[in-house]
Amino acid sequence: MTSKTKSLMARGAAFLGTEHAILCGAMSWVSERNLVAAISNAGAFGVIACGAMTPELLDAEITGTKALTTKPFGVNLITMHPQLFDLIAVCAKHKVGHVVLAGGIPPKGSVEAIKDFGAKVLVFAPTLALAKKLLRSGADALVIEGSEAGGHIGPVATSVLAQEFLPALAEDHVVFVAGGIGRGEMIAAYLEMGASGVQLGTRFACASESIAHPNFKQAFFRANARDAVASVQVDPRLPVIPVRALKNKGTEEFTAKQREVAARLDAGEIEMGEAQLQIEHYWAGALRRAVIDGDVENGSVMAGQSVGMVSKEQPAAEIVAELIAESDASLA
Ligand SMILES: Cc1cc2nc3c(=O)[nH]c(=O)nc-3n(C[C@H](O)[C@H](O)[C@H](O)COP(=O)(O)O)c2cc1C
Repeated sequence: MTSKTKSLMARGAAFLGTEHAILCGAMSWVSERNLVAAISNAGAFGVIACGAMTPELLDAEITGTKALTTKPFGVNLITMHPQLFDLIAVCAKHKVGHVVLAGGIPPKGSVEAIKDFGAKVLVFAPTLALAKKLLRSGADALVIEGSEAGGHIGPVATSVLAQEFLPALAEDHVVFVAGGIGRGEMIAAYLEMGASGVQLGTRFACASESIAHPNFKQAFFRANARDAVASVQVDPRLPVIPVRALKNKGTEEFTAKQREVAARLDAGEIEMGEAQLQIEHYWAGALRRAVIDGDVENGSVMAGQSVGMVSKEQPAAEIVAELIAESDASLA
C-alpha cells in the first residue's frame, strides 16, 4: 500500500530521483562524501556542500561520493564563489543531476550553464516576486528557507514563507520547505500545504555517518532551541547576512570581527565587496574550527532551532525512517 506521505511526496521524489522527497541541505564541512552518500543510500537526497572548495577539491569530493553511492545526489554551489563557472564545469564533467545555487541571486549565465549539461537547478528565493522571476528564467525548483534554520538565514519564519509561497507556487512548481523541521509531523503539514518535499540540515548534522567532531555533536545533543541564536549586525553600513549558531565565545568574536571590518571600510582600506567577502571567510573558518577541529567554544557551531530535537547519534537511514513514520502517523 502506498502511504499518504509517499503520495504527497511523489512529485518531489520524481524530481530528485529518490524514494523520499527529503533533502539533507548542504552543510559546509559536514556535507562531504560520507554523510551525502549515507543520506542518498537511505533513500533521501544528499547534497555536497562545495562552500569555498576549489574546483579540484570539488572534483575529488564528487568522485569520492560516487564511490560510496550509486543513488542520486546534488552539489550546492555558493553564487559568490569567484570560480563559480569552473565549479559548474566540474559538475558537468561528472554529470551531476542536480545543482543547488545558494547564497544570493544566481549570476547571469549560471542557470543556463547548469541546464546546458542537463542538470536540474534548485534556487533559494527570499521573496515571492524573485521566486517567480527565477522560475520564469529557468530554475527548476525552489527551496524556501525560514529563519529557524541553521547557517545563513533570512528574516522570515518558515511558517510565514510557507503561507506566502505555497498557495501561489506549489500547484505549478516543485517547492521544498526548509528551516526548523525536526519531526515528521511538520513534514506532513508542509506536504499538505502543497510542498513537494522538505529540506533538513540540523537534524542530519549528527548522523552516525557525519564526520563532524564528537565535540560538535555533543554540543548539539546538549543544546535547546533557544541556544541557537542569530548573529547581530553591528554596523548599518556593513550588511551582514545573519547566521544562526549555538551561542558561545565565537558568536561574541564575530561581533568584534564586524567592528574590525567596518573600521577598515571606514578607513578606505577595503571596498564593500571585499568587506563582505572577509565576513564570509570568517564564517567558513569558524565553522571549520567547530566541525573539524572540535573547538566548540571559539568556532561557529551553526545549528537551527530544531537542535533541541537532536539528542543522540543515529544512522542517517534511521533518521529518515523515523521522519517518514512520524509523517505517516500524522497523516493517517
Ligand atoms: C552546520 C550548518 C552548515 C550549513 N552550511 C550551509 C552551506 O554551506 N550552504 C547552504 O546553502 N546552506 C547551509 N546550511 C543550511 C542547510 O543547508 C539547511 O538549509 C538548513 O540547515 C535547514 O534548516 P534546519 O537547520 O532548520 O534543518 C547549513 C546549516 C548548518 C546547520
